[in-house]
Amino acid sequence: MEDRENTQGFQAKVFPLYLRPMQKHPFIWETHGIHVGTGDDHVAHGIDDLDRIVEQAVGIGFPSVTFIIHSPRLTRFRYASERATDVKFIRGDASYFAYADTMAGLRKRHVGRIDIRFGVELEWLGTGLGMQWSRAKLFQAHGADFVVSSLHFSPDGVPYDGSSEDTAGLIRRRGGVEQFWAAYFDEMIEMVDASWQFTSVVGHLDLPKLYAPLPSCLTPDNGGDTETERRLSTLLEMIAERNLVLDVNLSGLRKGVGIYPHPEILSRAYTLGISVAIGTDTHDPADLGRDYAAGLEAVRAAGYRYYVSFSRGIPEKRSLSHGLEGQFAVLNLGMEILNNRIPRERRLEIPRLSFGGDFGALAKVFPESSSLGSFHAIRVRNEERSVTISDRLPDYSGGETSYLFSHHRDLPGTLAILLNTLASEEINIETVWLNSLEDGTATAYLTLDGRIESVREAVEFVMGTASDRFLRIDPAVKVHLPPVKRALSYLLEVDGVWLPIPVSRHMIITVHANRPGVLLVLLSALASRGINVVDLQLGARGEKGFAALGVEGDERDVADLLTRLGPSYLEASQIVLGGLK
Ligand SMILES: [Fe+2]
Repeated sequence: MEDRENTQGFQAKVFPLYLRPMQKHPFIWETHGIHVGTGDDHVAHGIDDLDRIVEQAVGIGFPSVTFIIHSPRLTRFRYASERATDVKFIRGDASYFAYADTMAGLRKRHVGRIDIRFGVELEWLGTGLGMQWSRAKLFQAHGADFVVSSLHFSPDGVPYDGSSEDTAGLIRRRGGVEQFWAAYFDEMIEMVDASWQFTSVVGHLDLPKLYAPLPSCLTPDNGGDTETERRLSTLLEMIAERNLVLDVNLSGLRKGVGIYPHPEILSRAYTLGISVAIGTDTHDPADLGRDYAAGLEAVRAAGYRYYVSFSRGIPEKRSLSHGLEGQFAVLNLGMEILNNRIPRERRLEIPRLSFGGDFGALAKVFPESSSLGSFHAIRVRNEERSVTISDRLPDYSGGETSYLFSHHRDLPGTLAILLNTLASEEINIETVWLNSLEDGTATAYLTLDGRIESVREAVEFVMGTASDRFLRIDPAVKVHLPPVKRALSYLLEVDGVWLPIPVSRHMIITVHANRPGVLLVLLSALASRGINVVDLQLGARGEKGFAALGVEGDERDVADLLTRLGPSYLEASQIVLGGLK
């Protein structure tokens, strides 16, 4: 295995870097992580006692723990040990079916202790039936944070990572090492081309190096124009164009062949702008987090300044060094909010970023970003949409203004009653500043466009008909707005419109016609399903109105009613922040 020695030679060169004094623990946000076991399946694989792994990760002080499960395979695709049994649906159809529920239970049992992520390693079984099978399997892993697409088998069902005999047989049948790799890269190209819309990460890109010599394009004496070289370039370019993420897989280190992919592939990926995710790909509790520092170092050595992890299919950026985690956390909330506003198939696109104030430190990590000057905030942009987020609420300098003030019980539908009555008098609501208080009541400050006599009539009507809900309504008070309630982060702007609101786990953002009654549709719809509005901000720019809401209620109800608000709503996005516990 001469070429394997080449790989190890490279490792020997960079290995001293790995031996730098380790931080107390590396910051683990892995993707291709801990393989979930097959339970009672006859061919055991992976880890079954997941609570123990979580305890272990909490004990070490990891911020997160990430599980992954293989999708079951068609019977034709089997390892030698599996061929010796009669087991169908290799690797635990039952455990796969139960996976989403298992993960939900695990999250519930460990809520508030550690961030639990989970994904699927989709076994690529070719187009045709294999493709339909894969699609079907993904439906069964609903709610997964990511899908890694992996090619473990040749089209005739022989594994690339089975044994040296299996690999030697494939090399012989294909007529040599170069032809072997060329065919493998072709299968990878087919996998990326056919599956990119429902996957997010390309798994262990050069897996066959486990038992095969490297292709000439990855050896130092590479002459340049070879068949494998052209196919590898095509593969990497396709990954880049489709915004897929590359799996930097540490299991190769444990097996003596170096990280997947080879450093040369990693540096080419960097040049092409391909994002990377890091994973231990472990099947043994003893390997939890093993070699993670080496993964971070390899990524850094290739030129990367950050790596990614996934939450509900959305890539989050992760720091490669200690000290910036807090700023990355704010950035990821902004990324998650923006991504919830754009269609699923565009969520792997890399948004543009602007940093201001203390967040300016992130500009070093993202040199292509622009500046917000001394404004302490992060703006995340994708085409016509943007959100501005900060961990600090800037001082409000709006001065004294006249507002309709309401102090009321914080119950679903209360605000809708007020808005309904104002709409009946044909009064438009220009801005709303709603704050839920700790004592089960809420205050609202509204600026209105309508005659003050009509406002007074509306207020009298509300106090006369719903006095059980409203403690006080004043049609015109002159005040400075109070600060919004304290939170870890604040959404400050939507598409550049000032709309300060605490970031909470469940939110709604709408862009709508700035006309009387439009907001009433949304609030009535929410009230009809018992969904409580806990925070609300309205803003406007010309003909467009903007609303940001913090809500409490059933996600499916919200999703359903947001599709039925009518043509006055240009956008109605439900924001569920998986990264915010
Ligand atoms: Fe794999």
